[in-house]
Amino acid sequence: MVDSVLWDIGYLVSAALFIIGIKRLSSPRTAPQGNRFGAYGMLLAVLVTMAKMYSEGIIGLELIVGGLVIGGIIGSLMATKVEMTEMPELVALFNGFGGGASALVGLSEVLKKIQNNEIPDPGIELYATWVAIGLSALVGWVTLTGSLMAMGKLRGGFYIPFTKKDERGRKRWVSFPTWGPPWLNIVKGLILISCFSLIFFTIDDPTNKDYVYSLVALSCLLGVLFVIPIGGADMPVVVSLLNSMSGIAAAFTGFVIGNNVLIIAGSMVGAAGLILTFIMCKAMNRTLTAVLFMSFGGGGKEAVTRTKVGSDPEEVAMVCDGISKCVVIPGYGMAVSQAQHAVKEFADLLEAQGVEVSYGIHPVAGRMPGHMNVLLAEASVPYEKLIEMDDINSELPETDVALVIGANDTVNPVARTGEGPLGGMPIIDADKARVVVIIKRSLSVGYAGVDNDLFFENKTMMLFGDGKKMMNELNSAIKEL
Ligand code: TAP
Repeated sequence: MVDSVLWDIGYLVSAALFIIGIKRLSSPRTAPQGNRFGAYGMLLAVLVTMAKMYSEGIIGLELIVGGLVIGGIIGSLMATKVEMTEMPELVALFNGFGGGASALVGLSEVLKKIQNNEIPDPGIELYATWVAIGLSALVGWVTLTGSLMAMGKLRGGFYIPFTKKDERGRKRWVSFPTWGPPWLNIVKGLILISCFSLIFFTIDDPTNKDYVYSLVALSCLLGVLFVIPIGGADMPVVVSLLNSMSGIAAAFTGFVIGNNVLIIAGSMVGAAGLILTFIMCKAMNRTLTAVLFMSFGGGGKEAVTRTKVGSDPEEVAMVCDGISKCVVIPGYGMAVSQAQHAVKEFADLLEAQGVEVSYGIHPVAGRMPGHMNVLLAEASVPYEKLIEMDDINSELPETDVALVIGANDTVNPVARTGEGPLGGMPIIDADKARVVVIIKRSLSVGYAGVDNDLFFENKTMMLFGDGKKMMNELNSAIKEL
């Protein structure tokens, strides 16, 4: 009795830490602290759960400690080795693991109940338990396979281990096309109906393991079919939706095993992920239905047949001399080339000459929410200089130079036409500045695979090369003026 009060107090404190953590994550200034609160909450929840399981004699200490040590080592290795540019894939993978863990707990619970003949008598308890187990399985397995699929798509494919490299020494990959014929939605609908039917069949015949395994198989298939039609610029929305689903699966599992902290934390992840999903949909001017049921972009990348003469850093440095306002618009290429420190140096050099410099941040620039904010914060760019899309757009017509570093889709004016994979996505109006300088390695397309007319405008100066290298050369040229 005393113990159960103690565990509940422990869970309550950890839930409070999660809530404070999420609140603090809402501003870049307090986000690191929010992260720490969340981590402390999770540590406390793990410790309380360990103590509770041990005191109830559920499993031995060696299993608990062994699992924690192995999981901890793998997790910290992955977190320390991951490149910033690979974060979205890692997030997708972790979402998948979250869903998979919930699904496995649900599966083991149902198998345990069947084996130990602990099935509740027909009635409300049987309904509640079996529906909760069924939903945790459905959402959990969909999240696992859907997230693995999303990770593979973000990486451009899966490496096939234990196969020989090809004749050019490249690793072998299997990649999945973005494929979504209209009839696929009907198939997905039928599978979903079958999954719900199976959940109800298990209530009629709770000892039938075939229903359980069929539900697992169909849910896994549904996860793959759910993500395979989604491509182009819509992947971030899907990853955030899968994140929300991993929370919902955890909350269902919390009901199944009667764990309060899992219900609270799962609901918070579910709600936060859903809010983020809608924010991203709004940023890309999509409805969630359009993202999920209409196949956009990600198909063959268009070949660029036009040419544009590149400028050189000295020429750009001369253009920047004597200007009064400059807006830096970073994108994925800044992350790839790790150019954020050189970008900050560029801003410092201009500011020393009295130029007003700010940064225009598109909500889906890069490959994860807040990607540009994190990188620029790492380079000590003050938060107040990071201006959101809607606010910076009103300033761009008054801007002398828009310096676009490694951004493409997020400044592509074709989005305004409402057509194609980028159609309707709000963009940063770089093309409205007096001069546009674009740093990237070639005229090739961005993530959504769409050609960009901005590169060919007369006011655009292309600086072809690696982002960091070109920024450093530009900074040297400015210093030599
Ligand atoms: P993108 O449209 O992806 O374009 C990035 C550009 O960076 C490329 O065209 C590439 O051109 C250039 N680049 C790559 N490596 C470079 C390097 N080392 N140096 C200089 N340039 C380099 O970028 P964006 O404007 O940031 O748009 C983001 C896109 O990703 C959107 O479509 C968005 O929907 C999608 N997405 C976003 C997220 C989130 S949550 N942010 C997640 C997944 C997908 P070159 O090859 O010619 O250099």
